[in-house]
Amino acid sequence: MKRAPNVAVAGIAIDCGSPQPLVEQLYGSLREAILSGQLRPGARLPATRVLAQEIGVSRNTAVSAFEQLAMEGYLNARIGSGTRVASSLPDELLSVRAHCEPRCTVNSGIRLSQRGRDLASSPVRILSVPGRPRPFASGHPDVTEFPLNIWSTLAARRWRSGSRDLLTYGDPAGYRPLREAIADYVRTARAVRCETEQIVIVSGSQQAIDLLARLLLDSGDVVLVEDPGYLGARFAFRAAGACVIPLPVDDEGADINDVRHNRRRIRLAFVTPSHQYPLGVTMTLQRRLALLEWARQQDAFILEDDYDSDYRYRARPLPSLQGLDNARRVIYMGSFSKTILPSLRLGFLVLPGNLVEPFRRARAVLDGHSPTPYQAVLADFIVEGHFARHIRRMRSLYEERQSALVEAVHRDLNGLLEVSRSDGGMHLVGWLPPGISDRGASRVAETHDVYASPLSACAFGRLKRGGLLLGFAAFSPRHIHEGVRRLAAALEGAKKRKPRNALTVQPY
Ligand SMILES: Cc1ncc(COP(=O)(O)O)c(C=O)c1O
Repeated sequence: MKRAPNVAVAGIAIDCGSPQPLVEQLYGSLREAILSGQLRPGARLPATRVLAQEIGVSRNTAVSAFEQLAMEGYLNARIGSGTRVASSLPDELLSVRAHCEPRCTVNSGIRLSQRGRDLASSPVRILSVPGRPRPFASGHPDVTEFPLNIWSTLAARRWRSGSRDLLTYGDPAGYRPLREAIADYVRTARAVRCETEQIVIVSGSQQAIDLLARLLLDSGDVVLVEDPGYLGARFAFRAAGACVIPLPVDDEGADINDVRHNRRRIRLAFVTPSHQYPLGVTMTLQRRLALLEWARQQDAFILEDDYDSDYRYRARPLPSLQGLDNARRVIYMGSFSKTILPSLRLGFLVLPGNLVEPFRRARAVLDGHSPTPYQAVLADFIVEGHFARHIRRMRSLYEERQSALVEAVHRDLNGLLEVSRSDGGMHLVGWLPPGISDRGASRVAETHDVYASPLSACAFGRLKRGGLLLGFAAFSPRHIHEGVRRLAAALEGAKKRKPRNALTVQPY
C-alpha cells in the first residue's frame, strides 16, 4: 500500500499556561480535527515523537493522547504502518453528525468559543431517533405504553381552568404542588430525607448536571465520574471546564478508596449507587459509608443520580445514599424521562437547604424555569395515583422483557454473549468473550440492523472485558427474539469471515 506522507497537523494548539492538563488539550485538539473532517478517515498521523517535538510537549503526553483516542475508537495503530484515523468512526459520533444541522458542527466557519467547541464536539449519543428505536437501543422507555388518554384528560382540565398561575412566569424552583408531590414520593419510595423547600424542578437530569457544574465548579476543578460511567455527566462536567477523573467501579459499586492517593482537591463525585450506569451493580453499604465519610472530610459534594431505580423487579426498592447523609454533602437527582416520557424534559433535585436559593437565582438567570403547564399536569398525575399505577404496570412489563432477553441470549448467543438477570433497570450488559472488541461487535451488529452500543464507549480507558449494552424496555418479546437472532447472525458471521480482523481487540 502506498504510504501517506507523515504530515504535520495544523492548528494543534497547546496552552502551557492553561490549568487543563496537556494530555487533555492534545486529545481535545486531535479529536476536534477528526470530527471536523480536517483529519479524514484513514489519514496517517505523525509519529508521537515528531508531533511532541513540533508542539513542544513530552513524548509521553503525545502517547497518552493517542492511546486515549485509540481506546475511544478514533485512531487505529498497526505495527509498521503507523497510526491512522479510524476508517469508521464510533457510532455515537456518527449519530452526532447525522442529527446535527450544519450550523452546529465544529467546522461551520463560525468562530466558536472554546466552551462552544467543547460542547459542539462532545461525543454524547443523541437519543432522538425517527420512528421506533431499534433493538437494543438503551435508555428508551416504551412510550407507546404511556396512558396518554389520562394525561390528555388532566391536561385539558388544567387548560380549561385558565388559572393565572399556569399562564404567567413561574418560580425558578418549580411549581409548588409538584415539589410537594415529589417530596412525598421520594421520602416514601427512596428514603430521601427532605422538605418540599429542598426540591427544585429541572428540565431533565442533563440540565441539572450543567447547572450544578456552573454553580459549584470553577474551571480546572476536579470531578470524579464513575468508570465506566454515564457519558452525559462526564461531558457536561468537561464542557463546564472541570477536570474529570475516573472513579473505578467493581462488583460493589464505585470505590472511593481507589482515589484516596490523589492529592488534588476533588470538589464533586458523580455516582449511580442504586443501579450503577452502565454495569448495573448496587453500591454496598460499606462503600456508601466510605464515600459519605470521604465527602465530609474533603468538603466535597456527591451527586447521586437515581435515574432508573423505580424499576426494581425482585428485591424491594433500595434506600437512597442521600438518606444516609448526615453532613448535607449529597445532592439527589431524579428524572421523569424513564417513568413518564423523555420528551417532557422534567426532572428534579433534592438540594441541601443552603444550596436552594443560589440554585433558584442561577436558574432565573439561565432559562427562568421549566414549563409550568407540564409541571401542573405531572403534579395531578402523581397526586391522583396514576404515576404509581403506571410504574407498577411498567415494572411487570419490563421484567417480562428482561426475562425474554436473557432467555433468547442463552438460547441463540451461547458462547458469544453472556448475560445474567438484574434486579432492576432497563438494560443489561452482554459480556463478550475475552479478547473480542466490543466496538467491532457493535459495528458488525449495526450491519444487521441491531443497535448495541459498546460498553467501552462509557469507559475512560481500556476495559478488561468488552460488552454490549442491551436495552430491553422499549421492545416487545417478539422484537427482542428477532433482535437476538439478528445479533447472533451478525456475530457468528463475523467470526467465520474475519476471525482476526473485525472483532479482535487490536494491540496498540
Ligand atoms: C445514567 C443516566 N442518568 C440520567 C439520565 C436521564 O437523563 P434526562 O433526565 O436528562 O433525560 C439518563 C438517560 O439516559 C441516564 O442514562
